[in-house]
Amino acid sequence: MSGDSIESVLQESRLFPPPASFSAQARVGSMAAYEALAARAAAEPERFWAEIASELTWAEPWKRVLEWDLPDAKWFVGGRTNVSVNCLDRHLAGPRRNKAALLFEGEPGDTRVYTYHQLHREVCKAANALDELGIRAGDFVAIYMPMIPEAVIAMLACARIGAPHTVVFGGFSAEALADRIKDSRARLVITADGGWRRGAIVPLKDNVDKALEEVDVEKVLVVRRTGGDFSWKSHRDVWWHEAVDKASPVHEAPALDAEHPLFSLYTSGTTGKPKGILHTTGGYQVGAYYTTRMVFDLRDEDVFWCTADIGWVTGHSYVVYGPLMNGATVVMYEGAPNQPGPDRFWDIIARWGVTVFYTAPTAIRAFMRWGDEHPAKHDLSSLRLLGSVGEPINPEAWMWYRRVIGGDRCPIVDTWWQTETGAIMISPLPGATPTKPGSATRPLPGIAADVVKKDGTPCKANEGGFLVVKRPWPSMLRTIFGDHERYTKTYFGDIPGCYFAGDGARKDEDGYFWIMGRVDDVINVAGHRLSTMEVESALVSHPKVAEAAVVGRPDELKGQAIVAFVTPKGGITADDALARELRQHVVEQIGALARPEEIRFADALPKTRSGKIMRRLLREVASGSTARGDTTTLEDNAVLEKLAQSYQQEE
Ligand code: WT7
Repeated sequence: MSGDSIESVLQESRLFPPPASFSAQARVGSMAAYEALAARAAAEPERFWAEIASELTWAEPWKRVLEWDLPDAKWFVGGRTNVSVNCLDRHLAGPRRNKAALLFEGEPGDTRVYTYHQLHREVCKAANALDELGIRAGDFVAIYMPMIPEAVIAMLACARIGAPHTVVFGGFSAEALADRIKDSRARLVITADGGWRRGAIVPLKDNVDKALEEVDVEKVLVVRRTGGDFSWKSHRDVWWHEAVDKASPVHEAPALDAEHPLFSLYTSGTTGKPKGILHTTGGYQVGAYYTTRMVFDLRDEDVFWCTADIGWVTGHSYVVYGPLMNGATVVMYEGAPNQPGPDRFWDIIARWGVTVFYTAPTAIRAFMRWGDEHPAKHDLSSLRLLGSVGEPINPEAWMWYRRVIGGDRCPIVDTWWQTETGAIMISPLPGATPTKPGSATRPLPGIAADVVKKDGTPCKANEGGFLVVKRPWPSMLRTIFGDHERYTKTYFGDIPGCYFAGDGARKDEDGYFWIMGRVDDVINVAGHRLSTMEVESALVSHPKVAEAAVVGRPDELKGQAIVAFVTPKGGITADDALARELRQHVVEQIGALARPEEIRFADALPKTRSGKIMRRLLREVASGSTARGDTTTLEDNAVLEKLAQSYQQEE
């Protein structure tokens, strides 16, 4: 199939059936089996989820599977459990006890391996250390860490004692960190002296100190990673190795209520203020466990590598919780994909024998650009399954991924989900679902996803509409921390009776979902979710800016790129130096991921008579009139533009 042109594949809307050898060993090995499972889940959803939940350990069984009072769901009501027990203790009685849980590789090339037994010991020690520091069940802990084993240990220790964690991506600025510490009311920050990225040190501890000029916490627990310099605040700072090393490796995990908060994770919405998405214990663990098992079809001999940072939900569900609950071996890599060279990922896959690889389209497009010679240098024959997540994958990138990385032999699972959904919602089952490049295919059994019109009625085949979920699912968010009204309005206020995801989509004649992108003012830059308003607020907080409007424009590498239209204050010269200053300002306010690709100065911004900025016009200006990408994407963009208008008009 490698000779097929992208045009012929698209024209024929070619199906790629799973290889027979794969299906023969898979948990779900045919579409008939998928349909049967999906039908059973739809007919008796509570029974379906209860059966999955029963595979995990519960200290006390639930009394009711679900209490649903739209928009509020409670799952496994009355049940008591502990996610850390399901990730660790559960495996200690059998042969997984001495199996590798974590294969860690630092950017400089240092490696560490933890077996389940060892990881359990470290987590117990950390749990005791947290207890010693006065952290109790219900206290929030902020984690601002590089991708190192201590980050996983910290998350699991928090989960173990019932202290909800809020992980802040290490690429966020001190300012963004301060906002998240404030909003979550964290009592403790766990960080490191720094982390390695492209051969340089990310000054995590310095950023924490800067953030704590604005908000106070009781203690800062500091992991020694780089050995670099930073200032020690003796009244507040505690070395991780000192606190954890002396702690006892015995820790009895408390049985937590199924609805006990497990973590919050901040993500961008349509306003300038990120939302703390709150997930709870019982439902989240069932969702992460089930989807990892189904979508990645994990077996004991697998080596699973999800390249996401733990600062994103993908890192929560598919670096930490999902794979560990399944007793898998997980690869964790600290640094950049092109350090020291553009083949680092392929080198890692070959050396650790990775069998299942899960990454983002933006990374795949970068690899494509860097050239086929880099993967060609390494033996990638251990791979048996590939995954994609975070943004729509264009068919060219899909085909390249399949051919060059997967050797035309590995199924690809294009997984659609969100921070809010906690776990994968729409995805092929690798042994069952014939795939189409660019489609996330069908909802997982148990997930009532659909495409509907604004009034909630289903769209016809190939008609663009809004992506919704019609029934609650265990790993759904429970609230926006501190703002339940915003939760209700954002997710249940638009389309009657449904959870609305914010995405536009269509279903084709085979019932396959094609995600078209956000219809709200959220943009997706290199797989990172940003609100245009958030970047605008960052810009207008600069003393030289009178007004700013931010839009996304299609970008071949990042999916979308940020274009900012800025009106400087009177008397300020709009020049390159100002543009540089503003870019740097956004980096300081939010982080490098929000740096505008382009800043265009304008004397005034186009507005409607009621004073609303005409974003549609700006989007057109930012995109230019030149056609980009393939025709499928162009068509989708036109439909999406219409959907976005109809969504926003009525607001
Ligand atoms: C938004 C959620 C949950 C994974 C990481 C992103 C977009 C996510 C896909 C996909 C097309 C996708 C959607 C969604 N998205 N996966 N497979 N195909 N679009 O999580 O930051 O909460 O963003 O990412 O627009 O709403 P997130």
